[in-house]
Amino acid sequence: MRVIVEADADRVATRAAALVAALVRSKPNCVLGLATGSTPLGTYRELIRMHREEGLDFSQVTSFNLDEYVGLAPTHPQSYRYFMQVHLFDHINIRPERTHVPDGRALDFDAACAQYEQRIREAGGIDLQLLGIGSDGHIAFNEPGSSLGSRTRLKTLARETIRDNARFFDSEEAVPKMAVTMGVGTILESRRCLLLATGSSKAEAIRATIEGPVTAQVTASALQFHREVIVILDEPAASLLQRREYYDDVEQSQRVYEQQTGRIW
Ligand code: F6R
Repeated sequence: MRVIVEADADRVATRAAALVAALVRSKPNCVLGLATGSTPLGTYRELIRMHREEGLDFSQVTSFNLDEYVGLAPTHPQSYRYFMQVHLFDHINIRPERTHVPDGRALDFDAACAQYEQRIREAGGIDLQLLGIGSDGHIAFNEPGSSLGSRTRLKTLARETIRDNARFFDSEEAVPKMAVTMGVGTILESRRCLLLATGSSKAEAIRATIEGPVTAQVTASALQFHREVIVILDEPAASLLQRREYYDDVEQSQRVYEQQTGRIW
């Protein structure tokens, strides 16, 4: 894992957007895995700015979102499809038919989940998966105890997640209790993963993910098995890391390499 610590959340966003943009420029028909929630909002704002001001072209990009609440229609303001439209898709030139968000109202969830995985395969697999992390260490909605080999499926949300996400709803009771989510196994098949975390509420989950043992109790820790993961943190999210000096040293070497080769991926 490459661990990058930036001064604040804005810098996390610009750094993450630069990495996404570099991939889109070098592989215009790339497949992006996208996340919702508060964490990627700044990254999406920066990508929209790059599209408008620098002509970053998403016309050949395909996207797959990590998850969707069960029971919410795509037009529901708290659905993840709606979130993606409002915060990214409506402002860039990605083709609507190339954007995929799991169906939270499928009649047959087993079939719909299998079809989602099939579509990812048909698209050639995910080139870059953007991830946030829950305060309980989840990636997508793979709550503690989820199989590290899991595929796209229905998942019951942990109470901690329901409490965390109640801020987007009128009340805690209004938060759906289940979601359709890519599995940990699905995420691990992405060619690259970009995990973002900001704020002190993520510090313990980040410590456990990067420096703790791999455990289904912290599903993000499974990323230790992935060969190309970049983690971008702000200072509060990085505050519990023990090997911070080493990450900074690696980062310095990486910068030299990037300057010499012009490659950031
Ligand atoms: C969202 C998702 C979740 C969030 C996580 C953090 O698509 O998959 O795993 O990334 O719950 O959410 P925020 O960013 O709101 O703290």
